[in-house]
Amino acid sequence: MTDPALDAETLRERALTTLITARARTTLLTSCVDDPDLTAQHSPLMSPLVWDLAHIGNQEEQWLLRAVAGREAMRPEIDGLYDAFEHPRAERPKLPLLPPAEARHYAAEVRGRVLDVLERTAFHGTRLTEAGFAFGMIAQHEQQHDETMLITHQLRTGPQALTAPDPDPAPLFTGPSEVLVPGGPFTMGTSTEPWALDNERPAHRREVAPFHIDTTPVTNAAYQAFIEDGGYDTERWWAPEGWAHIRQHSIHAPLFWRRDGKQWLRRRFGVTEVVPPDEPVLHVCWYEADAYARWAGRRLPTEAEWEKAARHDPAGDRSTRYPWGDADPAPEHANLGQRHLRPAPAGSYPEGESPLGVRQLIGDVWEWTASDFLPYPGFQAFPYKEYSEVFFGSEYKVLRGGSFAVDPVACRGTFRNWDYPIRRQIFSGFRTARSAGDV
Ligand code: AVJ
Ligand code: FE
Repeated sequence: MTDPALDAETLRERALTTLITARARTTLLTSCVDDPDLTAQHSPLMSPLVWDLAHIGNQEEQWLLRAVAGREAMRPEIDGLYDAFEHPRAERPKLPLLPPAEARHYAAEVRGRVLDVLERTAFHGTRLTEAGFAFGMIAQHEQQHDETMLITHQLRTGPQALTAPDPDPAPLFTGPSEVLVPGGPFTMGTSTEPWALDNERPAHRREVAPFHIDTTPVTNAAYQAFIEDGGYDTERWWAPEGWAHIRQHSIHAPLFWRRDGKQWLRRRFGVTEVVPPDEPVLHVCWYEADAYARWAGRRLPTEAEWEKAARHDPAGDRSTRYPWGDADPAPEHANLGQRHLRPAPAGSYPEGESPLGVRQLIGDVWEWTASDFLPYPGFQAFPYKEYSEVFFGSEYKVLRGGSFAVDPVACRGTFRNWDYPIRRQIFSGFRTARSAGDV
């Protein structure tokens, strides 16, 4: 969405393309396993895949058919089943959910009617349809659940169901391991990005002191050095709640890792492999990221520091949409969209680097920040409180930048994700920072 003043036919085309792209991915994720796999609960942290499928259709029906087009509910009796706040994930398998064939049929039926609505919608006049927002919001919602379903696939045991080519090896990189980001104010958040969600708004000035940030995310090799140095057995590296958590749950390595003699193996989408040393570390919780940073004599970047590193162009006092500028993400910029089923090696995507030379801020792994999930000054919930507002507070930490499993439509320099600091089934990694002047 480069030009906010796009004409209606361009917006219609964009809305259509993003909805079709999302549905193709949903179909892939729900057709590569059989029906018992779709209705099974692969982890108490996740819904059965068939719940995500019908929930995707139900949200689309609620926002595009009922809110935008004023249609009656198609199946009012199922709304409660697919309300994420009525039923926690762990209890969803016990609900009388639509069986796979019915869930597919329902989602397809909703989509067919949405395509009619899209033909007739004017993209101005109401805040919900301005610049196609509701369509963009629903495409992002489907893609977010596609990432959730990919997490379920990773947690699922059994033979491999998904494949994708590996990313290319990283180009030879001889640059510095960290970059100095100058101090001073910058513009955080956005008031102009048409499909930005409520928590990314409004744009506001933030003062950030000078700091250094890692050029790339922390790699498996670097993380293994922390493990081999007894990082998981050394209380002083850990936040007290983090130490209690790893002791209680006997956590000694990232999720899905297993030691085999001298080397580490990991299970990845049904295949076991030796942990690749040059890949960004994946499946660590906030407490592990925080402990690693302390061991390394560093700290996690704050959310404002992360966004300044990603969007501030020192040549002009302006924040760009992405580290590489304002262009929509293309394959040479970042590892997004489940093109690959893993992060690319550290140092990849030179064309996606920021003006200061920071790489892989977008794509590959979600990056934990030091910050709690809080509203920006002037925040207004839109279009519903349950997207962001009910989650604000100190319980959740912010993640930035998106992973290999995030579609470009749901990824921006301003995009904010959040989760509990103990969570590590998500595609999470991190990079570290230090204040300028600290050695
Ligand atoms: C922004 C990823 C935390 O999955 O809970 C999906 C996105 N909100 N349906 C989540 C979301 C409603 C949300 N996260
Ligand atoms: Fe949802």
